[in-house]
Amino acid sequence: MLDIRIEYTKNPAKKPEAGQPLGFGKIFTDHMFVMNYTEGKGWHDPRVVPYQNLSLAPSAMVFHYGQEMFEGLKAYKGTDGRPYLFRPDMNAKRTNVTNRRLCIPEIPEEDFVQAVKAVVSVDKDWIPSDPGTSLYVRPFIIATDAFLGVAPSKTYLFLIILSPSGAYYESGLAPVGIWIEDEFVRAVRGGIGFAKTGGNYAASLIAQVKAHDQGFSQVLWLDGVERKYIEEVGSMNIFFKINGRIVTPALSGSILPGITRDSVLTLCRDWGYETEERRISVDELLEAQRTGALEECFGTGTAAVISPVGKLRYENEVMTINGGKIGPLSHRLYDTVTGIQTGAVADPYGNWHVCAEE
Ligand code: COI
Repeated sequence: MLDIRIEYTKNPAKKPEAGQPLGFGKIFTDHMFVMNYTEGKGWHDPRVVPYQNLSLAPSAMVFHYGQEMFEGLKAYKGTDGRPYLFRPDMNAKRTNVTNRRLCIPEIPEEDFVQAVKAVVSVDKDWIPSDPGTSLYVRPFIIATDAFLGVAPSKTYLFLIILSPSGAYYESGLAPVGIWIEDEFVRAVRGGIGFAKTGGNYAASLIAQVKAHDQGFSQVLWLDGVERKYIEEVGSMNIFFKINGRIVTPALSGSILPGITRDSVLTLCRDWGYETEERRISVDELLEAQRTGALEECFGTGTAAVISPVGKLRYENEVMTINGGKIGPLSHRLYDTVTGIQTGAVADPYGNWHVCAEE
């Protein structure tokens, strides 16, 4: 159990007003969580302090070799007015999966969850309540040794910042167009594709710019070896409804193990759908689209929630899915997931909707 010191800001910022468009990740709250790590001492000095700039040596290792990790989760104002989180234990587990791969010291899962709850409770009045909005929670760890050798750092900072946000895509629930990338790859097995670390996102930017230039919102990555099998969209996992079955790429090591992905698989199974986690080739998709078997496509992610896909482009072929409109399953999933998150829908699993106040 962490002994968290709290220092309240003396200069609270003006909170966004109800109805004000928030965008995603642009506004930050009054406080942040900080904890240090020092080799030989472990994690120490957990504190909630006023949101402020960091002071780091220009030689801090994170700037040079990218030893860092991040997470994403959301806090909602429940129907009882209290702050709630969605499955924060899953973020705690995934943090340590990422940390092990990147030689960052692990954080006890209960400490991670306690830290998130502490800072969200302090800034709970920042949780927006307009439909489709939430308080996006961004935990991250950076390597802070002032050293230019390539080695794991001996000191780190763990921070959690909070951002009242609206939909990740400006289009909201309107289906997005996605570009299937056949030139660049995001990750390979044995690499860091499954880890939540900045390098994966830096590697994706060139293809994202290319996709935007062609009028598409996001990139769908193919496997890095054969460039034939569907992997993920940089900011979300991808699902297809083919002939009534729910199909998503298996977690092969190069795909992010999404928490919304896991939640959607669980819900679909419990609703009686057959679910398949397996390899899906682009050829299979093109064929399913030609025969009318491809009924729906949607992305899942913490930021994106459930994001319907209306159009997929591969080389010179454009697949329009469900007439470019949101499908009934995507809609049901969006309503159920966001309903459980806010508390409007009873949590069928008992540990998905978690109060942030102890
Ligand atoms: C999230 O969905 O929380 C993520 O971390 C994806 C990020 C690209 C916004």
